[in-house]
Amino acid sequence: MELFEAIYSRRSIRKYQDRSVSSETINRILGAAMMAPSAGDDRPWHFIVVEGSEAVGSIQSALPHAEMAKGAPLAIVVCADTQVEKFPNNWMLDCAAATENLLLAAHGLGLGAVWVAIYSFDDFVAGARKHFSIPDTVEPLALVVLGYPAESVANEDRFDASRVHKGKWGS
Ligand SMILES: Cc1cc2nc3c(=O)[nH]c(=O)nc-3n(C[C@H](O)[C@H](O)[C@H](O)COP(=O)(O)O)c2cc1C
Repeated sequence: MELFEAIYSRRSIRKYQDRSVSSETINRILGAAMMAPSAGDDRPWHFIVVEGSEAVGSIQSALPHAEMAKGAPLAIVVCADTQVEKFPNNWMLDCAAATENLLLAAHGLGLGAVWVAIYSFDDFVAGARKHFSIPDTVEPLALVVLGYPAESVANEDRFDASRVHKGKWGS
């Protein structure tokens, strides 16, 4: 898929076909996530890959708002190893960039995906930490639920000239 087509047609997909995703496809998506920029090139990201509808569905016991995980074939938790950070508190920026790459790569390969919040909600962070045995030195940022889409969401053009300032704020 062409880059601009991918950016403009990506939407959050929350319904998935009962079809597994190959390891090759998962690795291509993770490779794209790891191509993201990061502060000081510290690449703090780690990815917990959860495969199979039973394991993915069980995530809802820890993250009740992740209703779409029920029946989904794949989920990926994007985490950061804060010990490798070169600049304090940049891990969420690095991992957000990786998550967007992940979403776009999934879309480009014909999958649908949605970013489900973990950061910055204390109860979601605690739930994810317990469910996935995440150590204290690692921070979970987001759960991405994926699969081949069973719904289509219309494209939108969100360009808004009022959000663009020329030279200084307000002009
Ligand atoms: C930081 C962040 C947290 C999000 N958390 C959730 C979530 O918990 N549940 C959910 O269904 N979607 C979540 N989303 C997806 C947004 O609802 C979605 O991106 C937004 O409505 C725009 O729609 P689009 O992704 O189709 O462009 C989240 C997105 C971001 C960036």
